[in-house]
Amino acid sequence: MKKKALALLLGICMITMTACGNASSQTSGEAPASTADEGAADDTAGAEDAQAQGEAAGSAVAGVVWYNFADTFISNARQTLINIGAADGTITITDADSTNDVSTQTSNMNNFFTQGVDYLVLNNINTGAITEICDQIQAEGCYGIFANTDTPSDEDFAKNDKLYSVSSVATQSGTIMGEALAEYWQAHPEADRNGNGKLDYVMLLGIQGHYDTTVRSQYSVQALEDAGIEVNNIGGEIICDYSRATAQEKVAALLANYSDDIDAVIACNDDMALGAIEALKAGGFFTGDDTYLPVCGVDATVNGCQAIKDGTMLVTALNNPVMLAKSIYKVMYLTNSGQEVTTESMGLEGVSVEGHRVWLDYSPVTIDNVDQATYDINDTAF
Ligand code: BGC
Repeated sequence: MKKKALALLLGICMITMTACGNASSQTSGEAPASTADEGAADDTAGAEDAQAQGEAAGSAVAGVVWYNFADTFISNARQTLINIGAADGTITITDADSTNDVSTQTSNMNNFFTQGVDYLVLNNINTGAITEICDQIQAEGCYGIFANTDTPSDEDFAKNDKLYSVSSVATQSGTIMGEALAEYWQAHPEADRNGNGKLDYVMLLGIQGHYDTTVRSQYSVQALEDAGIEVNNIGGEIICDYSRATAQEKVAALLANYSDDIDAVIACNDDMALGAIEALKAGGFFTGDDTYLPVCGVDATVNGCQAIKDGTMLVTALNNPVMLAKSIYKVMYLTNSGQEVTTESMGLEGVSVEGHRVWLDYSPVTIDNVDQATYDINDTAF
């Protein structure tokens, strides 16, 4: 690793080998209860150990900028990446929380650049500045990996062979929701609650402009239309920032006017689907005969899967945070040892490589297969 500022590595939120002690042993886990701050306070000594080991192995340091530690999906990916780094020891993982704030993201990135990290992994929320960020990464001379976010353009990739992206194929998750909802609608004529011949849906969006939000919302509706279903959007673009609480609040407000019209809720992640379900329950849905409403989500979190089992969520798309973390780590591991990143060299199920873009597959999860929708954040094999 670059020696620029080892001491500084301890300065910002630092996650280390001993953080694994805090990792919950859950399988298919929700966000571990420990916060970034707790981790920072507890783990400084471990950070030194991690550094020492990294140095001894002649390995590399990664600065990982996550958009929000409090996000369930991100929290699971983050913890898995920490676990893999600690178990393998080749790449030392340090990370920072952007708290869903663009300027915090920028200062986190700059801190890592100052520290001279070998890899900058960015779960980018500054969606309008991708090229600018790519140029900055190039100027710093480190590797850049865009993770779980919009990929840089072909032009960006052409400029810098140390640039990669690792993300799920968001189109698949949108299609999975839309197709399951279409199937439900076609099998249940009573699902047209106001009898207008249209599927009146509420669309809950994540962060505005975020790749997954844009693509999941478009492709879910597209799948309904492709199935010949006439659709009607209720409430317009409801931005909930991937947050359960915000979704609950916004759906509750919508129910005041549209309770008799809404036929379905399409949420761009499970957290928002769960918030919608809470609001729907409070509004009299899911309380007995003829009160069911199809709700779709993405991620297959523990609570999302539980909602499928409870019969409150129709479908979710497994977005595997463990596979995301493994893929990020593997890209670093391969490039660090001078190997090419290909589908074969990645060697991970459901992961394919196109140029410098690494894509992860989703899979549908319904009541029929929910028991198989598991992952283990303590699985460190890559
Ligand atoms: C996940 C969401 C998460 C978002 C954050 C998406 O891929 O499905 O649950 O909130 O990433 O970037």
